[in-house]
Amino acid sequence: MTGPAGGWDTGEYERLAGVAVAALSRHVAESQAGEKPVGAPPPLPELIETLELRSLIRDGGLDEDGFEPWLERVLDHSVRLHHPAEIAHQVAAPDVPSAIADLVQGGINQPMSIYEMGPSAHAMERVVVEWMTEQIGWREGGGGVLTHGGSLANLTALLAARAAIAPEAWSEGVDGTLAVLAPPSTHYSVRRSVAMLGLGERAVVDLEVDELERIVPDALEDALERCRDAGRRPMALVAASCATSTGLHDDLEAVGGFCREHGIWFHVDAAHGAPALLSPAHRHMLSGIEHADSVIWDTHKMMRTSAIAAAVLLREEWRLEAAFKQKASYLIYEEADESGSSLLERQVECTKAALGARIFMNLAFRGPDGLGRHVAEQYDKTLRFWEMIEARDGFECLSRPESNILCFRYGRDPELQVALRERLLRDRRFHLSSTEVHGERWLRMSVMAPVTSEETIEGLLDAIEEAAAAA
Ligand SMILES: Cc1ncc(COP(=O)(O)O)c(C=O)c1O
Repeated sequence: MTGPAGGWDTGEYERLAGVAVAALSRHVAESQAGEKPVGAPPPLPELIETLELRSLIRDGGLDEDGFEPWLERVLDHSVRLHHPAEIAHQVAAPDVPSAIADLVQGGINQPMSIYEMGPSAHAMERVVVEWMTEQIGWREGGGGVLTHGGSLANLTALLAARAAIAPEAWSEGVDGTLAVLAPPSTHYSVRRSVAMLGLGERAVVDLEVDELERIVPDALEDALERCRDAGRRPMALVAASCATSTGLHDDLEAVGGFCREHGIWFHVDAAHGAPALLSPAHRHMLSGIEHADSVIWDTHKMMRTSAIAAAVLLREEWRLEAAFKQKASYLIYEEADESGSSLLERQVECTKAALGARIFMNLAFRGPDGLGRHVAEQYDKTLRFWEMIEARDGFECLSRPESNILCFRYGRDPELQVALRERLLRDRRFHLSSTEVHGERWLRMSVMAPVTSEETIEGLLDAIEEAAAAA
């Protein structure tokens, strides 16, 4: 059904939105209560069948009456991020204000790279980036842009680093002399960015790491020498706050000091950990971040927005525009003016979703303190879970956690860890992830949902013991 001349039937909108909002509320309430199973979805072909996806896109036919039961099936086959036992990945259980921002933007559709194409959404991005820059401790000249995710933010930061050391690369290409220094544990998007920037993956010089895969500051001189011996110029050095696998932080003071001393671009991948800046008890873990030349910060991890929203932030904002030399005369027809009418000069994307709106809404409703409390609560709970796991026979943790990511195992057999994870998933009781640290297999939890509790973890450890006994 459509409205006048094919426009909206606003009555249809209200009815469908009413059904969707009610179904979503039930879904989240059931998830938070831990009433429904989590874990393994059916095989993909089966799910396509269950949701009638092929016939619906070919023949249409979904209507107001059919929508509710169909949506229930969709929700039943979605990951329940608000569930206490959903502890697998670093994906936020989104908060209400951010969810509402998505509802609003879904209707008004404000791709806002150009101010005139989405004034309020553009303004929100500007103030969100300004606020993030302040949290890092950069007062004058700092700034950045929001991107569709941390991977794109890493690429953008490294593009700015490349422009700083090799400005001719934009027009001439790269000459094979550049290098990026990073630990082997760096997020894969860093290596991928290096390859995409034309440096070749072998331009990544591995930094020495300790037994917990953190950069060893004392070994940085050696790495620099290796880099120079290979005839390469260091384009950037990448540290993590915190590392994806382990949730542990590199020593940003020491690494940042080294970079400053040697004039190397210092990039901090704080996709996961940056929101700890909002918790007075935890911000010390990012001490030294202010020395960075560039930082990335995801909000769809610890700031409770939906995926995907990230920022790339630079100590010297002008370096971001120096990274993009291109002109598109139909969109960018003058130098960026003081009113800041366009973001195109500083981002990969042309059309961009109103990412700032979902971040702004969480900040406006919860305040930075509220979000900081969320981070602190998940980090503190994870510390208690570490104590509980360490106290149980047969279990061990990789290390004391520094975030809401914790690696642990039952026994030492790598195959057992994989089998345990799969068993829990099949039983649809707990959704964990797993990772390798220095070649050893660990179970891994990311504590994202506010409702995950000590009781949840007691249940998890019992379930692991039962599964191991049955293996
Ligand atoms: C440290 C780190 N950097 C970058 C990324 C990539 O971010 P995104 O998934 O937003 O592209 C992740 C994702 O988990 C991450 O943990």
